[in-house]
Amino acid sequence: MNPKYRKTVIAGNWKMNLLSSRLREYAAALKEGLGKEKGCEVVLCVPAIMAVPLLRALRGCRASVGAQDVSAQEAGAFTGEISAAQLRDAGVKYVIVGHSERRAYHGETDELIGRKLRRALQEGVTPIFCVGETLPQREAGAEREIVRGQLKLALAGLESAAMRKVIVAYEPVWAIGTGRPASPTQAQEMCREIRAALRELFDARTARAVSVLYGGSMNPSNAPELLAQPDVDGGLIGGASLDPRKFCEIVEAAKL
Ligand code: PGA
Repeated sequence: MNPKYRKTVIAGNWKMNLLSSRLREYAAALKEGLGKEKGCEVVLCVPAIMAVPLLRALRGCRASVGAQDVSAQEAGAFTGEISAAQLRDAGVKYVIVGHSERRAYHGETDELIGRKLRRALQEGVTPIFCVGETLPQREAGAEREIVRGQLKLALAGLESAAMRKVIVAYEPVWAIGTGRPASPTQAQEMCREIRAALRELFDARTARAVSVLYGGSMNPSNAPELLAQPDVDGGLIGGASLDPRKFCEIVEAAKL
């Protein structure tokens, strides 16, 4: 982390988990666990249908609410989709784009992800843009090339000022939900590589200002070492974010 230049962000990704009956209890535990101190940005990316009730339950708590996906379209006849304007309208401040599960199960391409990211930016919703290689790609030694390609294709033509509003999350697919996180060295190397790519695609100021998170089996025991890496500016947390106590412990680790 380098709080002098960029925000530290701890974002939870509930994926398709939890029911509204749990929201009050979750929000109360989060409020208690987070306290008042503003060490870092805390975000919960939840199923869209839970965003509004969660915002209500979180009143008085400094955590923000995010969504897990957004339409690339502005508005109109797109059954089942949710627009960036609708997210903003509901009070949603962040949205995950390009999560590996969307890429793998919904065939999302870098180009589509780039369009979603731009829609979010247009509405003032902060995109949390995920990149990461699969295990065969890492085994073939192609991880840098893969991640650089994902960045280049989705971010092509974006202005530097717009890029500075994006959060990037490095999520190696082999570490997601497997209990096998990247080592702190692997996370640092790739987050540094992402920053180098941003310097080439944009400029030094932009590369220094963009928060780059690590995601993939982060939990309270491995978070301190992962978050201590100079180019890891926070975490995107799936499984461990379902338990508010564990999630708060990770937020604590980000303050150290
Ligand atoms: P995980 O998920 O923490 O359960 O590995 C991370 C993610 O997919 O964002």
